[in-house]
Amino acid sequence: MIVTGADLPALIDALASTGWAEARGFLSTEEVTRLAALCQARRGDFHRAGIGRAAGQTVRDDIRRDTVLWVSNDDPELGFVMQRFADYQQQLNRELYLGLNELELHFAAYPPGGFYQRHLDQHRNQDTRVITVVLYLNPPDWQDSDGGQLRIYLDDGSHHEVQPAGGTLVTFLSNRFEHEVIPARRERLSLTGWYRRR
Ligand code: OGA
Ligand code: MN
Repeated sequence: MIVTGADLPALIDALASTGWAEARGFLSTEEVTRLAALCQARRGDFHRAGIGRAAGQTVRDDIRRDTVLWVSNDDPELGFVMQRFADYQQQLNRELYLGLNELELHFAAYPPGGFYQRHLDQHRNQDTRVITVVLYLNPPDWQDSDGGQLRIYLDDGSHHEVQPAGGTLVTFLSNRFEHEVIPARRERLSLTGWYRRR
């Protein structure tokens, strides 16, 4: 379900009713510009994203082609966005009794031609990832022809496509929806994370 702005109660209502929500304009243009600049300043530290966990991690060009940089929840430069994520976590726990107590987050950069094949955000035999969040840091004028849409496969066999326009936040139940990133034709940036329950 699509909502507008940084209205957390509306976002949580949408998530509760359909299991996913897209909030357009969750961040202001100025906030996106600031966050995108922070992301770009750290690009030298990004590394190729793998699949699987810990020792089992492998880089698979055929499955995903993004580069990522994990960020700390206490990162002083990210305080303003961490506060928003903390508010979201608190309201999710209060309204939906999810018992979330951790947020893992990384910046992600897809180069032109980058994609991520259809997958579920859960590692096998481990269901601590409860809620996915993806916040896009691209220019606001992302076009359909730029590719890079997030396609969410819904329960009824249809799908929903999210344009990764700057300031849009998408959030969904991590164990419920398979999704994929369609090949992007221009660089595609995001701050992506998972609320967990230990
Ligand atoms: C992921 C993912 C979606 C996106 O990193 O697991 O599915 O739109 N990202 O970037
Ligand atoms: Mn995913």
